[in-house]
Amino acid sequence: MKVLVIGGGGREHALCWELSRSPQVEEIFAVPGNAGISEIAQCKKIEYEKNFSSLAGLVSKEGIGLTIVGPEVPLVNGIVDYFQKKGLVIFGPSKAAALLEGSKVFAKRFMKKYHIPTADFKVFSNPDKAIAYVEKRKAPIVIKADGLAAGKGVLVAETPQKAVKAIKLIMEKKAFGEAGKRILVEEKLFGQEVSFIVLTDGKTVRPLVSSQDHKPIYNHDQGPNTGGMGAYSPGPISASLHKKIMRRIIIPTLQGMKEEGREFKGVLYAGLMIKGADPKVLEFNVRFGDPETQVTLPRLKNDLLEVLLAVQDQSLNQVHLEWRPQAAVCVILASRGYPGSYDKGKPIKGLEKLSRLSNIFTFHAGVKREDHRLVTSGGRVLGVTALSKNLKEAIRQVYRAVDKVYFEGMYCRRDIGYKALGKKR
Ligand code: AMP
Ligand code: GLY
Repeated sequence: MKVLVIGGGGREHALCWELSRSPQVEEIFAVPGNAGISEIAQCKKIEYEKNFSSLAGLVSKEGIGLTIVGPEVPLVNGIVDYFQKKGLVIFGPSKAAALLEGSKVFAKRFMKKYHIPTADFKVFSNPDKAIAYVEKRKAPIVIKADGLAAGKGVLVAETPQKAVKAIKLIMEKKAFGEAGKRILVEEKLFGQEVSFIVLTDGKTVRPLVSSQDHKPIYNHDQGPNTGGMGAYSPGPISASLHKKIMRRIIIPTLQGMKEEGREFKGVLYAGLMIKGADPKVLEFNVRFGDPETQVTLPRLKNDLLEVLLAVQDQSLNQVHLEWRPQAAVCVILASRGYPGSYDKGKPIKGLEKLSRLSNIFTFHAGVKREDHRLVTSGGRVLGVTALSKNLKEAIRQVYRAVDKVYFEGMYCRRDIGYKALGKKR
């Protein structure tokens, strides 16, 4: 079968790489892809957030049997509905179901209605009212833009003054455009953050192995949030906590969505905060995590194509996910300046050394080919993953690999996975 992967980050490279290991995959296409993806897939430059007719045209012309959507924007804009109307097979939730990520206000009201544990919140569409409210509250306070903001729409304010500044930034200066027409003001939660990601075909739910992302830019979780600076798997989830998350969060969410006429099919990603033994939802995503995918897929034993097709034809009950017992750790190499404005066009050296190492996988994100060499083209540039017998060993190996790569201004966190070992670096 020919497949198409939409997106061009590390997550999509990991998806293409995993699909390339399936004996049933005949050819991979990617839109837009990146330098690393182009080694295993045919990359096409098509606008993919809205231009669904061109994407569908490619699928029909090439006889592509399955399309997999990496990023959230096309899902929230209704790519799945568009493809299905044309009789094309696509993996992901419908537009109605993708609202769980597309509107944080919808998600919070939904959770309240179905008694799914989450932080207390209030919704505002008037900045003056929001400001008057936060001025009376005790800090810290979390301010969130309602709509999609490329992972940047959440501001954790340590004082009411900073909360006021955040409200003005979102609602008056319109830093995230229309996404900031409404905001949430939330109680700040404390604890361990965990990514709990499941596949569902609407009837059966199959959780992926657990993983933990590292969102802040600096070691020991300091500094502003990023898209994710690294991840490890397995994450800090005991069997009893796993059961609780399924019972209190995942199952009621999927049932509630069905009751709302928004049946969910695809990947449901619950970003959770765990305090003691109590999980609460920070956010829902309706797609694979990035960088979580770079640690979960290297642990998957199944044929990914078979798994995704089973979600499609609602035969997931026939599929049992099997995982390698090893631990995986992924470290993101970022450009100087990220998550603010960052350098671009810096030549990348040393990658050929990584391809000679076994159980080290390199996933490209902001990388492009220019005059036969690889140069940086994004904030998150590369993800380097090590798979090893345990977490301690995987951490050792991943940093040994990372130290063979160089580009000017290269930055990475040095403490990925240390939390799980119960120590600071
Ligand atoms: P979200 O996009 O809602 O996941 O928010 C991005 C990040 O902001 C999360 O991964 C958390 O690190 C942080 N965050 C969001 N909501 C809260 C909250 N209520 N309390 C503490 N941290 C939060
Ligand atoms: N790892 C965070 C995300 O995928 O949203």
